[in-house]
Amino acid sequence: PNIATVIPAAGVGKRMQADRPKQYLDLCGATVLEQTVRRLQQVSVLQQFYIAVSPDDPYYPALSFLQQGCFQRVQGGTERANSVLNALQQINAEQYPWVLVHDAARPVVRLADVQMLIEHCLAQNVGGILATPVRDTMKRGTSQIEQTVERSGLWHAYTPQLFPTALLRTALTDALCAGVAVTDEASAMEWAGHPVLLVPGHADNIKITQAEDLALARFYLERN
Ligand code: C5P
Repeated sequence: PNIATVIPAAGVGKRMQADRPKQYLDLCGATVLEQTVRRLQQVSVLQQFYIAVSPDDPYYPALSFLQQGCFQRVQGGTERANSVLNALQQINAEQYPWVLVHDAARPVVRLADVQMLIEHCLAQNVGGILATPVRDTMKRGTSQIEQTVERSGLWHAYTPQLFPTALLRTALTDALCAGVAVTDEASAMEWAGHPVLLVPGHADNIKITQAEDLALARFYLERN
């Protein structure tokens, strides 16, 4: 199957409080983004990559993988969803009927989990995401608890997320137009009425957000 890969990497990473966006911080001798790409390149069906970065990003041109020729730089947008949509607009949906979207900031996703997602979606011909069931008791509230939220049936949504390219492009365009809050690809697909599979992955697929996450990512990366 021909699956294009989109990596949104145009965030500024404010919560990290570092001197550069988190995708360019060092993780075991390479940048976070390089580690993410290295992971995805181990999946043999992923051969064409679209990476959304800020127009004035000074770090991108120095990345080690760029010599390979299967990478296309795309202009990042104001929100993650805009970055992804910009990338989708560059993809020929006939050549790449499926698109896998994966955060630059998730460098330790397991190869087997990515393969599992691809197998499930293609076998059922339905889009899907990696996710894990919520483990903790869930509360709603601000400074005081208003309510305990029923935990069964709640999931943490991760990336990668895999969808038919043309459907996702239309759903994202329409959802953004309608002002829907689109924090991942699945939210746009749900809003458009498309089914989305929940494929159980592993909770070590962390998104690097705060400084302490880097140490954890290092641990996971060195473990496998
Ligand atoms: O900020 P957050 O951690 O949710 O971002 C998830 C991913 O989306 C990151 O890899 C980040 O670089 C990317 N992003 C983007 N364009 C934006 C905001 C975030 O590509 N405008």
